Amino acid sequence: MSSALYQVLLICTILNIDTRAYGDVRFLNKCIFSTKTPYFWIKSNDEVVTEDSEAICNGPDKTKLTKSCVSFHINSLIRHGIRYPGLKWIKHMDEVQQKLTKAIIRPSSQSGFIEKWANPFPNEKEHALAPSGKSELFELGKRFGQRFKMLLEVETEKVQYFVSSKERTFDSRRAFHDGLISIFSTDVIGDSCKVPIIDDNILRFHSGCKKYLDQIENNDTALGEYFKFKNGPEMNSVVNDVKKRIVDDVDVIGTINGGL
Ligand SMILES: *[C@@H]1O[C@H](CO)[C@@H](O)[C@H](O)[C@H]1NC(C)=O
Repeated sequence: MSSALYQVLLICTILNIDTRAYGDVRFLNKCIFSTKTPYFWIKSNDEVVTEDSEAICNGPDKTKLTKSCVSFHINSLIRHGIRYPGLKWIKHMDEVQQKLTKAIIRPSSQSGFIEKWANPFPNEKEHALAPSGKSELFELGKRFGQRFKMLLEVETEKVQYFVSSKERTFDSRRAFHDGLISIFSTDVIGDSCKVPIIDDNILRFHSGCKKYLDQIENNDTALGEYFKFKNGPEMNSVVNDVKKRIVDDVDVIGTINGGL
């Protein structure tokens, strides 16, 4: 096996909102509001990752090793883990709470869910990798390490990480790396890979590519399907359902109009 190189690219275009960032960081049955699917949702709860299951690919006739393929180079494109919302959304949540609190008409001696609710997202954590995001990437690194153990054990100096300039991708990389090496008895992966290479040109292309900005980002018609869905019957039914539950919960005497 020669010149193996494992390149891990961490992208940072993905928004994830974890509603229980302070809670138990185990994932199963965890309720998460998210704009993207967390990695742990697409794996089976009882998945067992067999050692080297992806490193060697046997031909149809398993007795003839000449027909096997052995991995010697892997590129992975991985997004950062679940992160806290941005400041705009954290503040928006506070505003919604204030609006609802004002709309509630009931004796001040009583207070319900809305009044007692405390925003679980501190301002200073905006966009930071959440504890569940850290575990998400740790587990992912562990599964990767298991699948390609043979390769990583031999070519320990050649793992290379690329990250964007955003802190959440640095933190995600660290968690991924910790997961990856956790399957070895010692940190067999060399120090060189511990310094990630920052490459915003590739990993944050959306903020520098004029064509992308002109044709997609600043082009409302390019996002037509998104707006159709956002204003469509499914999303409206979600909004109405939430509205109804809030009204039920607070036993509102008055009415709450719009703005949710
Ligand atoms: C905006 O998006 C639409 C739909 O994808 C596309 O037809 C149009 O060419 C885009 N406009 C620009 C300026 O690229």
